[in-house]
Amino acid sequence: MYKAPRGTSDILPPEQAYWKYIEEKAALLCQLYGYQPLNTPIFEDFQLFARTVSGGTDIVDKEMYVFEDRSGQKLALRAEGTAPVCRAYLQHGLFNLPQPVRLYYIGPTFRYERPQAGRYRQHHQFGCEALGDSDPVLDAEVIDIARRFLLSLGLSEFSIQLNSIGCRLCQPSYIEALKRHYTGYVASLCPDCKTRLIRNPLRLLDCKKASCQKIAETAPKISDYLCDDCQAHFHDVQQYLEALDIPFQLNYRLVRGLDYYTRTVFEIQSRTEGGQTAVVGGGRYDGLIEQLGGKPTPAVGFASGIERIILNLKEGKISPPGLVKPIAFIAYLGQEAKTQAVKLASQLRSAQLPVTLATGDRSLKSQLRQANSLGSNYTIIIGEREVKTQAVILRNMITNKQETFPVTEVAGALRQSQHLTL
Ligand code: HAM
Repeated sequence: MYKAPRGTSDILPPEQAYWKYIEEKAALLCQLYGYQPLNTPIFEDFQLFARTVSGGTDIVDKEMYVFEDRSGQKLALRAEGTAPVCRAYLQHGLFNLPQPVRLYYIGPTFRYERPQAGRYRQHHQFGCEALGDSDPVLDAEVIDIARRFLLSLGLSEFSIQLNSIGCRLCQPSYIEALKRHYTGYVASLCPDCKTRLIRNPLRLLDCKKASCQKIAETAPKISDYLCDDCQAHFHDVQQYLEALDIPFQLNYRLVRGLDYYTRTVFEIQSRTEGGQTAVVGGGRYDGLIEQLGGKPTPAVGFASGIERIILNLKEGKISPPGLVKPIAFIAYLGQEAKTQAVKLASQLRSAQLPVTLATGDRSLKSQLRQANSLGSNYTIIIGEREVKTQAVILRNMITNKQETFPVTEVAGALRQSQHLTL
């Protein structure tokens, strides 16, 4: 028996209500803020991620799904959404439009991680990106969207963690200070942090091992190394967040797992137990588009993992509105009745009434059982007598009462079904 690959899942019909709920809220919110939808392919040139997310990060070093196509081109499944959006921005000359260009996406993302609750090899992200403008008001805007997204779904138990990690000018002197600090503790570092010290020192601050966290506690703070421009930018971001009444916590150890960030970084962490805590991650990436061959172009954005949101909804006992169920199931007895049922189903669908047709030649009891399991409120029953009299029996599946209607009146009766006294 084949199974879905480890770390991936099938989204079965009962789960679909969550997805529809979340995707609709996301789309509505993006409309409200003027973000337009963009779809990018699920695979890209490997170098797109290798250059921007960068070597020295787990995503590029350990987690990408990389393959060669038949022409020998090295490709990678989408490991995150931001670099593809920037590639599309450059490829389609979106920099010629009035800036900033505000875009959003919803789609699958692939990372070869160790699967556990809230951590999968295929997950889906809803992300927003505002490209072409360094105004700190945009940093506050994307945080505002992310927060409103969670609130609109009914989630409120979360905290917004905020930091600035500086720019190309001020970050190097901080990294030097960080290296000096950690060099004094090399012997006590975990094997990963020993590598980070050489390849990606900022990530040292993010290590979850207790012994490394202790060393991080006394590490120099980035806030003491920000240049004047970065300090002013960070100050303004906070000021706009305050103006919007958005509570946040400064977290000088927040660095994020992708290398393209500059200045603002943020995460929204869920306070509920279980699964992974980060439900949103984002920040500013003013150097990324230039790295891809464009002109220096500031940008900021975030992405949220839909599976993690669903875990949080379930934990908070928040049920999405149900998917549309068939209003009626059409059962029949005998071949002639079956032909009538096929015709009636077609007529009702033309009248925009969702109905499901029975199949095969099962007993009425078995057909009614199927109607119940589909959750339809009514069953239309056509037997030999009904074929002759051009009528149908309409059965209320909750009260089990039934009444005979002329076939021409069924659509009207169903449309009025909330007023039916059956
Ligand atoms: P990220 O933090 O790597 O950032 O991922 C964003 C969100 O995707 C996370 O906060 C989490 O909710 C979800 N997520 C990540 N990995 C997994 C996984 N293995 N299983 C389930 N959910 C996961 C980015 O990808 C950036 N591109 C975000 C961004 C957009 N920054 C600026 N613009």
